Amino acid sequence: MVFSPAAPVMPFGIEYRDDRIGAEERARLMADPGFGRVLTEHMVTIRWTAERGWHGGRVGPYGGLSLDPATIGLHYGQIVFEGLKAYAQPNGEVGVFRPDAAAERLRQSARRLAMPELPERLFVQAIEELVRADREWVPEEVGKSLYLRPVVLATEADLGLHPAREYLFLLIAFVTDRFFSGPVRPLSVWLCEDYSRAAPGGTGMAKCPGNYAASLLAQQQAHERGCDQVIWLDAARREWVEEMGGMNIFFVMDRPGKPELVTPELGDTILPGITRDSLLVMARDRGYTTTERPFSVAEWRAACADGTMLEAFACGTAAVVAPIGTVQSEAGDWTVGNGGPGPLTLGLREALVDIHHGIAPDSHGWIHSIR
Ligand SMILES: Cc1ncc(COP(=O)(O)O)c(C=O)c1O
Repeated sequence: MVFSPAAPVMPFGIEYRDDRIGAEERARLMADPGFGRVLTEHMVTIRWTAERGWHGGRVGPYGGLSLDPATIGLHYGQIVFEGLKAYAQPNGEVGVFRPDAAAERLRQSARRLAMPELPERLFVQAIEELVRADREWVPEEVGKSLYLRPVVLATEADLGLHPAREYLFLLIAFVTDRFFSGPVRPLSVWLCEDYSRAAPGGTGMAKCPGNYAASLLAQQQAHERGCDQVIWLDAARREWVEEMGGMNIFFVMDRPGKPELVTPELGDTILPGITRDSLLVMARDRGYTTTERPFSVAEWRAACADGTMLEAFACGTAAVVAPIGTVQSEAGDWTVGNGGPGPLTLGLREALVDIHHGIAPDSHGWIHSIR
């Protein structure tokens, strides 16, 4: 899918930095970028007001924001965001993975928080402008990428509790390699029964900061138990598995013929992951049965005990696909499969990474190319 020649929806003001970081320093920063530390040199801003709608699109130097201390977003959390990645392609272009899906999810998140929806074409235009401005920051190595972070923030200064009448769209980017450091290794996870990420009727299906702030204590608890990540269960009964940290979750079940992939069905307590959706399509392409249904902790434990669960993995933009090796809970611990990363997990991971980097054909039109 190449949109490049399409007319821009909005003329952008463009002011590139004239104090660019030199090639040597950039290479040093990009050698070991970690996650979220090596930010690029530009950012996009677009404003929204009730009178003018979206206007004032601009690419400018990355830098601080000046916000009124009474800004609604700061106090009441009327903020939504996205996360997607751009990858260097073998033909020299930059491929952004499924920006249309991210644009759609940003609109859904905005609707849930009573915010204005950014049109898809404007969202994609902002990404194109930033990627072109910061092209030198897109890493060439397989496994590394440019992580794009769109945010919409309620900027009206008025502390009455109501939807704001002014917003700011921001797009920033950072260089990233693996989310979990080192080679792919199985994760240990903690079944969290003390806290919930999302409740029916809440904001679990929206990508809004409150969900992430509310998750930090549980993540801390998982670390204290020596685990990498937290498993979120349903808020009412702590019986059903929903997600892992900031990722969706899959279970690989032994079935006659080919394994079956099971993942919790979407609802208002689960973020509809774009990686999740892509893996469901890819698994079906490979002839696996895929099932979206409620999956209980009891079934997880029993299927590991009797050997019917072969593998489990989590997936998301940041880590792509991460195998789960061991589970810890108040009621006891168990191992998934042989505790190591399974072949199906690793195969799907590699296939998706190959699509990201343009090594495998993009048969579903998921890569948006930017020249
Ligand atoms: C809570 C949560 N679940 C799942 C995901 C995975 O979504 P995606 O595959 O679109 O990155 C994310 C990451 O955005 C997340 O924050």
